[in-house]
Amino acid sequence: MPRALSVNLEKWRQVSKEHFSHITPRYDQGRDFEEKQRWVEDIKSRILIDTQDWVLDAGSGTGLLSAQFAANISGCVLGLEPSPAMLEQARQRPKRDNLFWAQGVSEALPFAKETLRVVFLSQVWHHLLDQERAAREFLRCLKPGGGLFIKTFSHEQLRARWDLQFIFPELMPLMLDIYPDIADFESLLSAAGFSSFEYRTAERENYLLPSQLLNFLREKAWSMFSFLSPQGTAEGQSRLEALVKAGDAPVPFPDFQLLIIALK
Ligand SMILES: C[S@@+](CC[C@H](N)C(=O)[O-])C[C@H]1O[C@@H](n2cnc3c(N)ncnc32)[C@H](O)[C@@H]1O
Repeated sequence: MPRALSVNLEKWRQVSKEHFSHITPRYDQGRDFEEKQRWVEDIKSRILIDTQDWVLDAGSGTGLLSAQFAANISGCVLGLEPSPAMLEQARQRPKRDNLFWAQGVSEALPFAKETLRVVFLSQVWHHLLDQERAAREFLRCLKPGGGLFIKTFSHEQLRARWDLQFIFPELMPLMLDIYPDIADFESLLSAAGFSSFEYRTAERENYLLPSQLLNFLREKAWSMFSFLSPQGTAEGQSRLEALVKAGDAPVPFPDFQLLIIALK
């Protein structure tokens, strides 16, 4: 049974599309604090990736994680990304023999069936146009025994976010609406035909300066900021400015992650 949403999904898709066409030069900076190698190790510990194998980084953005994968596996990596601006940025990364880029969406993959060993998505699922269709596409293109890995946030993790609780409380309902929770993933992926489902949560201690958060807000570095009302923006800004003025002491910003793992 689908959850009742209060967010206008059409509007969210449009905002998300526009966001990635203008944020490109500043995108990596907003994701600096994340630990990237952990995902590569997690996936390698579950699936043997051979020299002949392909890993798809769906919604690869500027290629942050595609490049990390390519440098640490013996197979090939394809970063698939719909936004021309993000893709252009990804193509500026140092060239490697096992790293490729293509424009496209997850709902219509440019692969024959049973060609991929791993499909990986990092902070992409909540931007997809049609999640059920994308899940069926991933299943079609995975080899038997291959795995779909989705890096996202759980609702428990969203509820614990300091910035959403204290600086931008207006955004909390939106975030809970657009991010599926663990049970939503389980029902969607088992309905799509995946044979197993598990998940892992992780939390790494991390702090940000209020001035850094203020910069992210001013630059609208995260797509969620496009949904702040003028009042929510002004309130968030003045809360952060007050913290900066009071000494800019670091505030908790744990690197929360949920990894969904579904095998074919
Ligand atoms: C938050 S960014 C994540 C980028 C990258 N995976 C990372 O972790 O840095 C979300 C990306 O998903 C892409 N995206 C949006 N809709 C998509 C779709 N239907 N299929 C694939 N990617 C999509 C966006 O263009 C954007 O680059």
